[in-house]
Amino acid sequence: MPSIIAEPLREAIQRRRTFAIISHPDAGKTTLTEKLLLFAGAIHQAGMVKGKRLRRQATSDWMEIERKRGISVTSTVLQFEYGGCHVNLLDTPGHEDFSEDTYRTLTAADSAVMLIDAARGIEAQTLKLFQVCRQRQMPIFTFINKWDRDGLSPFALLQEIESVLGLNVYPVHWPLGMGGDFRGLYDRLRRSWEPYPQGPLTDQPPPDQAFEDELQLLEEAGEPFDALAVARGELTPVFFGSAMVDFGVRSFLDHFLAMAPPPGSRDSDHGPQLPEQENFSGFIFKIQANMNPAHRDRVAFLRVVSGRFQRAMTVRHVRLQRTIVLSQPQQVFAQDRTLLETAYPGDIIGLFDPGYFRIGDTLSAHHLLSYKPLPQFPPEQFVEVLITDTAKYKAFHKGLDQLSEEGAVQIFRSVNRTEDIILGFVGRLQFDVFEYRMQNEYGVSLGKTFLPYQYARWLSVDSPDSVQLGHGSRLVRDREQRLVALLPDEFTLRWLAEKNPDLVWHPTSNRNAPD
Ligand code: G4P
Repeated sequence: MPSIIAEPLREAIQRRRTFAIISHPDAGKTTLTEKLLLFAGAIHQAGMVKGKRLRRQATSDWMEIERKRGISVTSTVLQFEYGGCHVNLLDTPGHEDFSEDTYRTLTAADSAVMLIDAARGIEAQTLKLFQVCRQRQMPIFTFINKWDRDGLSPFALLQEIESVLGLNVYPVHWPLGMGGDFRGLYDRLRRSWEPYPQGPLTDQPPPDQAFEDELQLLEEAGEPFDALAVARGELTPVFFGSAMVDFGVRSFLDHFLAMAPPPGSRDSDHGPQLPEQENFSGFIFKIQANMNPAHRDRVAFLRVVSGRFQRAMTVRHVRLQRTIVLSQPQQVFAQDRTLLETAYPGDIIGLFDPGYFRIGDTLSAHHLLSYKPLPQFPPEQFVEVLITDTAKYKAFHKGLDQLSEEGAVQIFRSVNRTEDIILGFVGRLQFDVFEYRMQNEYGVSLGKTFLPYQYARWLSVDSPDSVQLGHGSRLVRDREQRLVALLPDEFTLRWLAEKNPDLVWHPTSNRNAPD
């Protein structure tokens, strides 16, 4: 659906909603995404969004590694028109393909939908992704899925969101029954009732004193609905339903699009940039290499922050201090790429990358402004790598330098033995892709040893002498020569924070803020 006719800028901005779904694998993200696309007419039959099984069968994926492992490495942007809105849904890979890219994608979103499995509550991956959203004070909308099956009680789920995430909740939907007993949803904002198709189809909730008491309790003891608190990411509207049965989803989507914010301003070194500013600007949040193995190309994904983008426009590449013409911008819908003519704040553009771009780069039509660097995300897996063929020494270091600059991997060197090279990743696949690219793009095979660390914490001192480390921990330096502690378990993590209370900071939080 490339936009061909230019819209007035202000109206285009008001119509845009750019969001990501945060969830743990198996919560139903693929199923929900598919329902949203079906409503919007963006796909015409179920099963078109690649699910786990479909992914396994896929034969023509972008990267060979995808085919080998049967998973999707790429996080794509799905665009659709619905209810007068132009929606950009950023895909956040889960499963084995969880990586730093998943976190980075969230920096391009204006809001998030937190999808929770009713039987499982908040799970590990949801929590990690939530923390990134929290840092950005992003509005979060909660959809509690699989209500067609028995799960936790709605009050227990709300309580968990409040206590584990520290978010206030406003249940917009309130369910009567669940699983085999599910009767329907009461919409507290619209004051309307939607009967569950497999229950008694009544215009009103069937008489049920306990249900009425619950609704009264929510009115009297619950948080009031507060749109400003939603916008600040302090209160999450909560919806219940079943993506599989397609129940509660449409009403969720209608509320979500009405409440979710259009693209807002972003901080730059020239102050906040409003989307309405005429001058086009945006930042690169992801680089995808080898999307088409036949051409060995790379695509840089840019989030438009301000102004209208037009094909073949000349922009300033601020870091390189040069002017470039964006002649082949692409709109990416799943694996189909079409040439894009126009884009607006909130939209995502795929740019052919001959090696110009790095994650965090700013492109801008007139100003020499730079957007704030993207936060760094702490790796969770660590591998020590060695060169197996010394004749490839140069290619080895070139590959490490280029791929770490691109953000494909984080690189550390041991404090005591700088020849020891340790790579940090967020998920196993991130390493596999890196290894594959070292082999295919630089002709280098790696010797590798997986290390038993699980956490990396940046330290706000230059000298390692004053740092007290627990057993089995190790000090390394990152590319910017900052000191980092690698830690094997939660015990050593707590120990580090206790013994060095002023030194520890988390790379996604402010410097000097211990966590
Ligand atoms: P993911 O992308 O978050 O990993 O989840 P996905 O949509 O693939 O869903 C994971 C499993 O949960 C699938 O079952 C899916 O059918 C099921 N599911 C999704 N939404 C609902 C729901 O609302 N209710 C119920 N009961 N199940 C739901 P599967 O057995 O793994 O795969 P499949 O054989 O159904 O494809």
